[in-house]
Amino acid sequence: MPAIILVGAQWGDEGKGKITDLLAAQVDVVARYGGGDNAGHTVVVRGERFALHLVPSGVLHPGTECILGSGMVINPSRLVQELDGLAARGVDVSRVRVSSAAHLIMPWHIALDAAQEAARGGSKIGTTGRGIGPAYADKAARMGIRVGDMLDDDHLAAIIRARAEEKRPFFRAYGLDEPGVEAIVLQYQEYAARLRPHIADTVRLVHQRLAEGKTILCEGAQGTLLDLDHGTYPFVTSSSPVAGGALTGLGIGPGQVSRVIGVAKAYATRVGMGPFPTELTDDTGEQLVVIGGEYGTTTGRRRRAGWLDLVALRYAIRVNGITELALTKLDVLGAFPEIRVCVAYRCKGERLTDFPTEARTLALCEPEYDTLPGWQSEISHVRSRQALPPAARAYVAYLEHRLGVPIRIISVGPERDETIVEARG
Ligand code: GDP
Ligand code: IMO
Ligand code: MG
Repeated sequence: MPAIILVGAQWGDEGKGKITDLLAAQVDVVARYGGGDNAGHTVVVRGERFALHLVPSGVLHPGTECILGSGMVINPSRLVQELDGLAARGVDVSRVRVSSAAHLIMPWHIALDAAQEAARGGSKIGTTGRGIGPAYADKAARMGIRVGDMLDDDHLAAIIRARAEEKRPFFRAYGLDEPGVEAIVLQYQEYAARLRPHIADTVRLVHQRLAEGKTILCEGAQGTLLDLDHGTYPFVTSSSPVAGGALTGLGIGPGQVSRVIGVAKAYATRVGMGPFPTELTDDTGEQLVVIGGEYGTTTGRRRRAGWLDLVALRYAIRVNGITELALTKLDVLGAFPEIRVCVAYRCKGERLTDFPTEARTLALCEPEYDTLPGWQSEISHVRSRQALPPAARAYVAYLEHRLGVPIRIISVGPERDETIVEARG
């Protein structure tokens, strides 16, 4: 049995956590492949709300094995906190495995993230401040510390001291206090003692499970348009949220992947800076934020909101090889008499239907909209596509027609069961 990749098809916060939790009931393993605690995945089960940052959203299903893959960057303090928080709520976290090849976020990464943002002045990225960019930069520069370095206390102490030494010039450059290295060593040795039972060779584990005929759900974090290579650079994160990132992040090959599920909201949001052609700064945008509860799971920041952008979504379908979509938050559109969908951009007198690769071009794009009738009713109780109001059904069919991929899951509320599954039967 194969691997299924689940990716965010927009700018993150599409509802990946909810859809992962839903699908986790049918799989054996759920594995995060990239990012770190910049992610915030919300799962709501029978009124209980869980905000997951590092631990895969499959953890709420007893028996599902959970893997934090090699492509991730791990803040051990946050991971210990998250595991403890879950355990306190009765979740068995002994099934959580962390790749020894994942990189560690160090206190200096967080300090540098803040200092670099401050230095950017008016051209800030609006990062989550979790040290993600500096940690991935050190990984690429071969100056990182990996989870596997926590397996031996003496080695861990030595590598922390050596890396801290290498970081000194950066601290001087940004006018930061130099870190108290010995305190960091002791702190990280404590985290190491806590996390050691969870550290594993996850590539071996994943292949063992595949050989046993088990199904692995690869849970994306962030979204396609935040991808380091394929997103709106430089307003991106520092990892590869796209489907290709699942292959490198977990050490599997393309032949093992049977489905690529793109998760997309029925409208669009973005948190942080960067171009967003369909952004609405008027009352309609405000309504989307209020009704959709568009406040960040990780930072609490208000998300920017606007209409669904099919130019961007078609691009996401391409770069991920998306085979089907999960459409979330359809219920939120029930408040609007008319629903708009961006079908093309107008840019410097030209009509564009392909997503521009340059963020500065995207920033000049004006959306061209189709307008569809709204249904103006509550649909959270609906459990089949046939039972949706005709205008909602027409909206979903319109998207499938325009995008050329089936919408197999429709989410109509945050709860696990507020979902229309395999809507095409
Ligand atoms: P993720 O980062 O992609 O997992 O998404 P987030 O959890 O950051 O943001 C999605 C938010 O929408 C969360 O608060 C979810 O509980 C909520 N949500 C998910 N699906 C639906 C839906 O279909 N309808 C509504 N109203 N809320 C939803
Ligand atoms: P989930 O998994 C939405 C955004 C930040 C910022 C940019 C870079 O919940 O969808 P970083 O801290 O990664 O260096 O910030 O990326 N960002 C997200 N936006 N959802 C996320 O994760 C995000 N993770 C990072 O807001 O614009
Ligand atoms: Mg989120």
